[in-house]
Amino acid sequence: MGDAILVTGGAGYIGSHIVVALHEAGYAPVILDNFNNARRDVPARLARIMGRAPQVIEGDIRDAACLDRVFGAHDFAGVIHLAAHKAVGESVTKPLAYFENNVGGFLTLLGAMARAGCKRLVFSSSATVYGAADETPTPETAPHHAMNPYGRTKIICEEILEDLCAADPEWAVGVLRYFNPAGAHGSGLIGEDPADIPNNLMPYIAKVATGELAKISVFGDDYDTPDGTGVRDYIHVEDLAEGHVLSLAQLQQGKGHLVNLGTGRGYSVLEMIAAYQRASNRHLPYEIVARREGDVAVCCAKTEQARDLLGFDAKRGLDEMCASSWAWMQAQDGSKD
Ligand code: NAD
Ligand code: UFG
Repeated sequence: MGDAILVTGGAGYIGSHIVVALHEAGYAPVILDNFNNARRDVPARLARIMGRAPQVIEGDIRDAACLDRVFGAHDFAGVIHLAAHKAVGESVTKPLAYFENNVGGFLTLLGAMARAGCKRLVFSSSATVYGAADETPTPETAPHHAMNPYGRTKIICEEILEDLCAADPEWAVGVLRYFNPAGAHGSGLIGEDPADIPNNLMPYIAKVATGELAKISVFGDDYDTPDGTGVRDYIHVEDLAEGHVLSLAQLQQGKGHLVNLGTGRGYSVLEMIAAYQRASNRHLPYEIVARREGDVAVCCAKTEQARDLLGFDAKRGLDEMCASSWAWMQAQDGSKD
């Protein structure tokens, strides 16, 4: 059995794909999740993909005693930390819940790691830390500018890590700033499954394709972009997951890093709808409505640093993101326990 890796939030959308990628790379992933935003059947679905069940601990990153037990029972070669709240709008109405989980929980995790002498960490950050960046594609050196409490939690966590690494050179930290994760696992067994009406474009389009939602609201067509709609850098969740394995490998050589994970290529909202229409072979009705507050025209990654420091290159394109999402949507049997 390979090195054990703790994956906090490992039953969630991105975490479950990382668990598969770790397994395929020869690691032994251990999931810690409180199932606050994860389906209960994810571990069984992972077992079907991986051929054996991953170890799953139902627990909370804010529970120091639980973390001490987990670290006491394993000799982790590293931690991949995803567990957090992630809904931008909710963070505006419930800022304390966001700071408590995303920052407070993170500090509790770092304390447990330090006590256990496990000082290798991959951290899920976000392109949201750039706010409305002046430069696009956006390099890692662009200034921070949070647009909401969620974004602020990511900036604060990054700053904590910077101070920690400066204070103690034994820490090896990989900060990964994700652009827009999209798509699902090729098996159709795991994917994104928002319980409520999705805030993000791709899961919204997916639910229009299934008929669950009537039509897509396109938030503005008067941006300074080729077709006037917002442009984003969508990255296949399986590529994103593989980026974490590369990050971990660098940390195991003592090389910390901070990189964007994106493709460097942007697509507009209308291009996304057209691509999903091709993948699903369904007509997807949409309506142009007012801009959404806080949105930027274009958000794309500068990708050179991820290539140079991790050897990362996104391999999968937009059609594969839409096809895998559609396969996942169709494979749902509606049974959620
Ligand atoms: P997700 O909600 O699907 O996964 C997060 C998981 O963490 C869930 O399974 C949830 O149950 C668990 N969790 C939350 N709080 C916990 C706690 N206190 N203790 C234990 N488990 C807890 O979200 P995701 O899209 O997979 O995102 C994963 C990470 O990536 C998050 O940190 C998120 O901020 C970051 N991120 C996501 C996106 C995106 O668009 N999805 C973009 C940039 C960054
Ligand atoms: N959009 C619509 N209609 C919708 C939803 C979105 O037109 O129903 C548009 C948005 O205006 C934007 C694009 O589709 O132009 C993408 O929007 P998303 O909400 O899918 O993604 P964002 O880029 O706004 O934000 C997401 C996460 C952030 C994260 C960021 C970068 O919500 O937390 O990606 O990772 F910071």
